[in-house]
Amino acid sequence: MTINKYLSSDEIRDSFLNYFVKKKHITHPSSSLIPANDPTLLLTNSGMAQFKSYFSGESKPPKPRITTSQKCFRSTDIDEVGDNTHLTLFEMLGNFSFGDYFKEEACKWGLELLINEFGLEENRIFATVHSDDSEAKKIWLNLGMPEHKIFSFDDNWWGPAGLEGPCGPCSELHYYTGDLLPNDYKSASKNKSWGPNVSDEFLELYNLVFTQFYHHLDGRKTELPKKNIDTGMGLERLTSVIQQVDSCYDTDLFTEIIEKIENLSGIQWKKSKSSDKAIIIIAEHVRSATFLIGDGVIPENTGRGYILRRIIRRAMRYGMTLKIKAPFMGLIAEEVIRKMGHHYSELIENKPFILKVLEVEETKFSSTLQQGNTLLKTLIKDRNLIQEKFDQINKNLIKIISKENFKDKELFDLFEKSKIGPESLISNLINKAIDLEKHIAKEKNDQLKLLIKNITKLNWKNNISGFEVAYLYDTLGFPAEVTSEIAEESNLKIDLDEFNNIMEKLKLRAKSSSQFKGDLSLQRLFEEMGISETTFQGHNNLKTDSLVIGILKNDKPTKKANSGDEIKIILNQTPFYPEGGGQV
Ligand code: SER
Repeated sequence: MTINKYLSSDEIRDSFLNYFVKKKHITHPSSSLIPANDPTLLLTNSGMAQFKSYFSGESKPPKPRITTSQKCFRSTDIDEVGDNTHLTLFEMLGNFSFGDYFKEEACKWGLELLINEFGLEENRIFATVHSDDSEAKKIWLNLGMPEHKIFSFDDNWWGPAGLEGPCGPCSELHYYTGDLLPNDYKSASKNKSWGPNVSDEFLELYNLVFTQFYHHLDGRKTELPKKNIDTGMGLERLTSVIQQVDSCYDTDLFTEIIEKIENLSGIQWKKSKSSDKAIIIIAEHVRSATFLIGDGVIPENTGRGYILRRIIRRAMRYGMTLKIKAPFMGLIAEEVIRKMGHHYSELIENKPFILKVLEVEETKFSSTLQQGNTLLKTLIKDRNLIQEKFDQINKNLIKIISKENFKDKELFDLFEKSKIGPESLISNLINKAIDLEKHIAKEKNDQLKLLIKNITKLNWKNNISGFEVAYLYDTLGFPAEVTSEIAEESNLKIDLDEFNNIMEKLKLRAKSSSQFKGDLSLQRLFEEMGISETTFQGHNNLKTDSLVIGILKNDKPTKKANSGDEIKIILNQTPFYPEGGGQV
């Protein structure tokens, strides 16, 4: 593969934007990663996201032609980051037409840009089109692309970004990196496993979307008032092609960031597959976190804050595998800001905030990570032992639950005495699970039997049970994704369904007992009065007959009350769900 000129990533970004300025586009800054006015989109995932209202005709663009380099984040790829190709954060170069030029210009300029501005070999450029889009195919043929280099797919379609918005058929330009010569392409293209989208030798570079439709929330598609163009080309991938390196992590976009990680860990890039994976994850996730925080996202347990928390924690874990002393992320973030700040000035403006947020989150998670990691490693090491113990108790267990009216106590004792897991952890967890089930389930006996049956069926040797994942998460704050990744390294699977099931039950229990939680002295008073709980019936009934099981006057128990007294009554069951402390 020969490309005549070396261009830095900055030069590539500038060349793209300048090319389209010459074609009468105006440049427009990247929007924030937090989408404005779009509740259906968690994070900006494409260049067109900030222009949705221009496409739909709801508002008027400053000019009908715009070009941008947009920060994008795709959270679906978090767990894939670690190989040569995946990124969560990337810059998308795009040219947009709002009711102005259409397919012909978009295709012509796209091809010309790749060949003349970036020096890519024309021979290696292939196209895909939507199966029904004969017009796009004809345009590529007219531009000199041989028919056997144009591939049709039913799913060449892009959008909407989020749950509703503009969309349309698309045509992509792919770059062939393999060894075949152009004369061989025609016969190779007859093979179904050769070509764009099906073989790894093809890199998708440039997506040209012919935005003609609006996808509504109810699934309907209607024609937009005008035909538009929305294109996108990932800067990182384009740079790897132009700089003729194996992956975007070998481009100048990552050089200084990776050097910093080498310095901190004392481990060289390209030394081993596993350390490279860790270096990639740290480099990528710290870069993404820097941009997310720079746009005002802070770590939280839900929504985009959770995505940020996840990537920070994932990077920390891999930092630990390289024995980098925490907190270290700020030091890498400084490199990211040095490299990218001249184009994304918000990184420089918000530098102190970015560094502080990273430090606080890292410090907060540090001891959890250590503790959870040590415990999980022991659980993994003890797998065979756990299975052995379990096999021993299984027979007795089956005897107990096959009885019509089995006693919970027998079950508790059985697990208590068997002391399964490090420091009897598994025995304790199962006892807790039985207890939780008793607390939540309506048909206690049947539910319990089912739970115990499920436990007996578990393959403890090859799986990390949902109980363990839930314990690590609920008690230590150790995330399920991290447990899963560590387990995978030892060829173990985690039982996510069981984990989700247990978490649901924990939430239910927290809800049903919350009415007694807020005030300990009241709770003690109820205990003294012999009242254990008010059963919540509102999941099934909005009306219930109920007994008054206690009366309080001036917060003291009383046997009776007179007309006009202000009292509190306690019921044995109720369909009222207490919100806002009970007032609602
Ligand atoms: N919106 C399209 C994409 O994200 C083209 O920019 O691929």
